[in-house]
Amino acid sequence: MPMPRRAAQAFTAVLLAASTVTALSHTAAAADTLGSAAAGKARYFGAAVAANHLGESAYASTLDREFNQVTPENEMKWDATEGTRNTFTFGAADQIVSHAQGLNMKVRGHTLVWHSQLPSWVSGLAATDLRSAMNNHITQVMQHYKGKIYAWDVVNEAYQDGSSGALRSSPFADKLGSGFLEEAFRTARGVDPNAKLCYNDYNTDGVNAKSNAVYAMVKDFKSRGVPIDCVGFQSHFNSASPVPSDYQANLQRFADLGVDVQITELDIEGSGTAQANNYSNVVKACLAVTRCTGLTVWGITDKYSWRSSGTPLLFDSNYGKKPAYDATLAALGGSGTGGGDGGGGNPGGNASCTVSFTRTSDWNDGYNGEVVVKAGSAPINGWTVTLTFTPPQKVASLWNGTAAWDSSGNVMTVRAASYNGSLAAGASTSFGFTAVKNGNNSTPALGACTAS
Ligand code: XIL
Repeated sequence: MPMPRRAAQAFTAVLLAASTVTALSHTAAAADTLGSAAAGKARYFGAAVAANHLGESAYASTLDREFNQVTPENEMKWDATEGTRNTFTFGAADQIVSHAQGLNMKVRGHTLVWHSQLPSWVSGLAATDLRSAMNNHITQVMQHYKGKIYAWDVVNEAYQDGSSGALRSSPFADKLGSGFLEEAFRTARGVDPNAKLCYNDYNTDGVNAKSNAVYAMVKDFKSRGVPIDCVGFQSHFNSASPVPSDYQANLQRFADLGVDVQITELDIEGSGTAQANNYSNVVKACLAVTRCTGLTVWGITDKYSWRSSGTPLLFDSNYGKKPAYDATLAALGGSGTGGGDGGGGNPGGNASCTVSFTRTSDWNDGYNGEVVVKAGSAPINGWTVTLTFTPPQKVASLWNGTAAWDSSGNVMTVRAASYNGSLAAGASTSFGFTAVKNGNNSTPALGACTAS
């Protein structure tokens, strides 16, 4: 972390209250939503949707404005569609599908064969019966939605975590053996040959034993002509399970097997700059892989996230856009970044930043000030902020920035330190200083922030 930097200067200036100033504001280009920006990159950008929230106007309007793909969060799962054997209930999923169709959004079918959210009647079946129940379930559900689904998660989460590379214990694996995977995909192809058929899993986002096992399965399917078109990477991240450094390489190795890849359930716990940067990196990884055809976030608002306490999504509980939203949009080349920054640069010239000042502590003859610098809707590579002090105040020390003084000695111009100039879109950093009052208790005037 930073070393305090010493500076002692004289000042003359009128003092203003703390303020927030926007410099270099720009009008958004056409691609000012996640969906339209992704479309500009020949991708979709989707969200998991719950039917019971569609009646909430802010939920629906955010969905309709920002996203062009949906995945029913629970409504197409086995327990929702066939809770009782051979009695199919499609009402809630139908609601989502018709909502999506009305707006030309793609629908990902999630999911046909999964050990979880599986009714107990299925787990109780013996092998032969289980096989026919599985094939019947796939057939009935896919038939109902035939022509309306761009891709199905045919099998979800079949492999174990950890180093074994083995199939997870489930009624399917335990009673039917590994052949259930192939059978599920073959059955699915027979029902709706126009739907893409995907395998979907978590903890397969980087190269590891589990993703190696999935990789081997896909390779085997491809070599034997078992139908598979895509692999979904759930991408549920938090501090215990961060975005892997080989994320892009892992997506690429699957794509190289001849399948499309998608980010299917993206959520990243955290907040502020760290979360924004993680989202940005995930989007950039997908864009860098030609066969990565789209991304889906696992919910719209933190309020309804399945991991709500980790605030992992792009919109806060009031549907406000978070820094992670701005970073995602910018990484997609949206909001006037002129087609994307290509990884850190800002060729579109849309760099902007805002600043705010807080007097964080006071004592008899001194105070500390903190200035938060926030990047606008494009990533920035550097920033500069001015502060004008009233004499005889002096700055005793400065941290997380580099100071220069004008000839009058009143105006301190602070530029980024070597480590905090580059900010993702919407991301923030701060610098601080200690001032000596010398009998004057004024607060310095905060000038505009300029970004490069
Ligand atoms: C989750 C839903 O978000 C929750 O509402 C539900 O209670 C449990 O399932 N992997 C998947 C998703 O494939 O279906 C899961 O969704 C999250 C993990």
